[in-house]
Amino acid sequence: MTTRRSFLQQLSMGLAVPALSSPLNTLHTPKNEIDFSLEGDDFWDSVRDTFPLTKDRVYLNNGTFGPSPKPVSDALMNSMEKTNTTGEYGHTQKAREQLADFTGVDSSEISLTHNTTEGINIMTWGIPLEEEDEVIISLHEHVGNALPWLNRAKLHNIKLKPFEPADTQEANLEGLKALITPKTRVIALPHITCTTGLLFPIREVVELAKKHNIYTAIDGAHGPGTLDLDLKELGCDFYAGCCHKWMLGPAGSGFLYVKRELLDTLQAYHVGGYSDTGWDLYSDPPHLDGYVPTAHRYDYGTQSSPMYEAVRAAAAYHTSIGKEKIEKRVRELNQYLYDGLSELSSSLDILTPEESASRICMVTFKPHQWDYKKFAQTVSKEGYRIRIVPESNLDAIRISTHIYNSKEELDQFLHTVKSLI
Ligand SMILES: Cc1ncc(COP(=O)(O)O)c(C=O)c1O
Repeated sequence: MTTRRSFLQQLSMGLAVPALSSPLNTLHTPKNEIDFSLEGDDFWDSVRDTFPLTKDRVYLNNGTFGPSPKPVSDALMNSMEKTNTTGEYGHTQKAREQLADFTGVDSSEISLTHNTTEGINIMTWGIPLEEEDEVIISLHEHVGNALPWLNRAKLHNIKLKPFEPADTQEANLEGLKALITPKTRVIALPHITCTTGLLFPIREVVELAKKHNIYTAIDGAHGPGTLDLDLKELGCDFYAGCCHKWMLGPAGSGFLYVKRELLDTLQAYHVGGYSDTGWDLYSDPPHLDGYVPTAHRYDYGTQSSPMYEAVRAAAAYHTSIGKEKIEKRVRELNQYLYDGLSELSSSLDILTPEESASRICMVTFKPHQWDYKKFAQTVSKEGYRIRIVPESNLDAIRISTHIYNSKEELDQFLHTVKSLI
């Protein structure tokens, strides 16, 4: 096997021609199943074969949206057909159970949402806060975590205390400690930032928060499907997860975890069918008995059965490969890309932390001689789907890699970067 270092050495000598394993411009008909008899890169090639991703474009933007493999899109289509042929629009309890299993919690602690931002809004508004209470966030928030907290700060006069994330877990914990005051009520951090892909040490953050009676409300957009996630082990109070990024479920699917003992603390502000234990408009005065004793109180009304059947299929797809195996592969590809970009460090700056515990699935860099948007446009014309990072004044390029990506694709990408900078 060509190692990362030797491959780039050969490239610089003009000896290696990066090529994808299949001819360019071929449409790919995805396979129904992974071949579990295979090992190593052959196994991951078989995983890739279950995705409809075309081979003329290298998809490196899973941090924004994760394409679904065939078993997931089949589940969506089949359920859609069933719903339309029978008129039975179905229930979502099985999805709650499967998501609970997938994240190591109880199904009564799972609310179904349509994206991470919805879960974040439920946490942000539901946590009891008084004027002048303090909430710690980072300066590297996605709009989906920044805006709900900014909005609550604006409307309820609470105080946000944003901090600049550091490059190591230890420094981040020290930074957090320094910000805590007797008025701190919430630490509202992302598990993994959208900017540099920094992985915060949430378990340790939770331990720190507990000592000071502080709630932990985690933006988990990038946690499920990358990490071998166990929310009980993580220990946080609330976790807004996403199913349409790294879990590879359909767009518009997510979940919110609420620790069981906090169900009556996190106020349900949006309610409707299935949220309540009874209500009566004829009584005097009209009254609402209360909320169901589960996190179902936060979601209400008709839900999309096809969507959540696909979420179940996505969880099953991950479990069939093994969450631990997926985390290992995601870390391996991340390291491969990180090492490759490091070899080009005379012409670009890597903004993602070097400490391997502080990153997992994304690498962000900034070419020295380029305007980042122009660079992104040029790379895009070469056949790569990447993301720019204007957030936090970084003006950089973000590369996400998931289980369907290959080292060949990363070599090809590194070759392109090298030829441009
Ligand atoms: C860290 C982070 N938080 C929140 C979001 C918002 O996610 P969603 O579109 O699922 O609401 C994103 C989206 O990329 C993100 O990267």
